[in-house]
Amino acid sequence: MYRGELSLTLWALIFINTSETCILRTHITAVEGEPFYLKYCLSSPVHKNETTTIRWYRSNRSQERVELKQGSSPRITLWDYVLEFWPVELDDRGSYFFQMGNYTQQWILNITRRNKHSCFTEKQVTSKIVEVKKVLQITCENSYYQKLINSTSLYKNCKKLPENDKNPSIRKNAEFEDQGFYSCVFSLHRSGKLFTITKTFNITIVEDHSNIVPVLLGPKLNHVEVELGKDVQLNCCALLNKNDVVYWIFEKENGPDPNVHEEEEKKAVTSEGKLHSSRILRIENINENNLNFLYNCTVAGEGGTDTKSFILVKKADMADIPGHIFTRGMIIAILILVAVVCFVIVGVIYRVDLVLFYRHLMGKDETLTDGKTYDAFVSYLKECRPENGEEYTFAVETLPRVLEKHFGYQLCIFERDVMPGGAVVDEIHSLIQKSRRLIIVLSKSYMSSEVRYELESGLHEALVERKIKIILIEFTPVGDFTFLPQSLTLLKSHRVLKWKADKSLSYNSRFWKNLLYLMPAKTVKPGGDESEMLPVLPEP
Ligand SMILES: *[C@@H]1O[C@H](CO)[C@@H](O)[C@H](O)[C@H]1NC(C)=O
Ligand SMILES: *[C@@H]1O[C@H](CO)[C@@H](O)[C@H](O)[C@H]1NC(C)=O
Ligand SMILES: *[C@@H]1O[C@H](CO)[C@@H](O)[C@H](O)[C@H]1NC(C)=O
Ligand SMILES: *[C@@H]1O[C@H](CO)[C@@H](O)[C@H](O)[C@H]1NC(C)=O
Ligand SMILES: *[C@@H]1O[C@H](CO)[C@@H](O)[C@H](O)[C@H]1NC(C)=O
Ligand SMILES: *[C@@H]1O[C@H](CO)[C@@H](O)[C@H](O)[C@H]1NC(C)=O
Ligand SMILES: *[C@@H]1O[C@H](CO)[C@@H](O)[C@H](O)[C@H]1NC(C)=O
Repeated sequence: MYRGELSLTLWALIFINTSETCILRTHITAVEGEPFYLKYCLSSPVHKNETTTIRWYRSNRSQERVELKQGSSPRITLWDYVLEFWPVELDDRGSYFFQMGNYTQQWILNITRRNKHSCFTEKQVTSKIVEVKKVLQITCENSYYQKLINSTSLYKNCKKLPENDKNPSIRKNAEFEDQGFYSCVFSLHRSGKLFTITKTFNITIVEDHSNIVPVLLGPKLNHVEVELGKDVQLNCCALLNKNDVVYWIFEKENGPDPNVHEEEEKKAVTSEGKLHSSRILRIENINENNLNFLYNCTVAGEGGTDTKSFILVKKADMADIPGHIFTRGMIIAILILVAVVCFVIVGVIYRVDLVLFYRHLMGKDETLTDGKTYDAFVSYLKECRPENGEEYTFAVETLPRVLEKHFGYQLCIFERDVMPGGAVVDEIHSLIQKSRRLIIVLSKSYMSSEVRYELESGLHEALVERKIKIILIEFTPVGDFTFLPQSLTLLKSHRVLKWKADKSLSYNSRFWKNLLYLMPAKTVKPGGDESEMLPVLPEP
């Protein structure tokens, strides 16, 4: 019982030990000149007792099975489940058999020649593909010979890498420059002889494998202008994965077109690491059959497909507008638009001048047929007190001098034109009715009882009967109009003119122009002989 347990433990140890480094593959390749071993794998615990014998055999091409014995070759060592070569040579090619009781295991051993010109043998490399930015790990380990290994070196493309630990290794994030052959060279001594074992990794760095959905670049439908008899190249560009393909569909029902040729696909990796592909379809000697047919280009891959179409159209005749003329037309249209906008703005700003110019040009006269006598009735503060002397002078002297003498209007100034006596109120009423405009020279002290009637009568005519238009002249700045009848504030703002003594002197000034604009149109009979530029008021 006790012994049984012990032997079970022993079994377990052997099992683990052998399964770690045993060789299960039946076809094995070794490199000449390197230490090599074959080790039996205990696939199931074999009931072994002391008497069970272990035998090793080899057979070569002649199929004779020869038993291998310790000492049958100086290079061969046998013990238990292991056959060792110190080192293996080309002659050792052949089949090897391990026999224990009636259990056997067979290996077929091939030996490759050592590459004398390189530090490793290309046929004996382990290829690994690593995605860029993923972990690249290379560890130099040889568990079977571990105890014998004296030193280990790591080479990249046969150049020794600086680090030289007992177990050199690499662990980093892969970059494209990391691609290459990495060789671990283990040195070991045995019976005073130096042996080396080389294990080489072929590391290839590839793109991120995450697939994109392939797409064709550019619009889905392309009209290509062509001339009959000429050639054209249609280019189809795609953004795709490594294994995706780009192809053209250009065959018609009535067989292939000998003029149409599909070129090879050209792939290129952009600086951002994206894969581009382009494929050209060449159409030679274009004829009518090539027109109005959809030449389709497709990219297909695991991620999906995408198709775009090209259609050839005959180049338009001269009747069509060539590009540069179109551009020129657009520029002209924009210039015209800008001009119109400017014109409108200028028109709004210089409305008054334009209207006056138009009246002058057309010789327009509104005063001929309405049967009124006066062009304007001037209402002003009549008492000539010192504080409103200027206003009085303006109404009685300046206005008539400019409007009557210079511009040929007929004003009605009560003090001047009405004979004293009679019913003043009735008189004023009839005078206002005979006038086309009511000019009110406005100031703070305007609202005296005498003028109030003129104002009310005029307002009645203006607002109720619409027979007269009112022009307000703000002679001195009037802060608030609250003292005026409510109805007067209904006047449009442009009917209120502000007199600015310093700026309104010239006949050409805005004040007089605005006043003329509000006055009825009348053909000007050249009045005085005063020049246009002479001041209206005596210079102060
Ligand atoms: C163990 O060995 C004895 C004699 O050497 C043999 O008779 C017996 O069959 C063996 N046991 C097994 C299980 O092979
Ligand atoms: C086969 O093996 C035997 C014994 O190892 C050897 O003598 C013989 O030359 C080998 N034949 C060939 C063709 O390798
Ligand atoms: C293997 O040998 C054992 C005895 O040693 C025997 O009982 C068994 O039948 C044999 N198996 C085969 C497949 O020959
Ligand atoms: C042995 O390896 C060489 C080169 O690796 C190969 O050409 C040959 O076919 C292999 N022989 C066998 C029997 O596998
Ligand atoms: C390694 O090799 C050197 C000389 O080549 C030797 O002196 C040393 O004992 C060796 N070490 C081991 C662990 O075999
Ligand atoms: C190295 O690996 C790449 C990618 O798998 C492969 O194309 C190349 O043939 C390999 N080189 C050798 C020498 O095995
Ligand atoms: C080309 O594509 C269009 C739209 O995808 C399709 O209607 C047409 O049949 C296709 N033509 C050919 C020749 O495959």
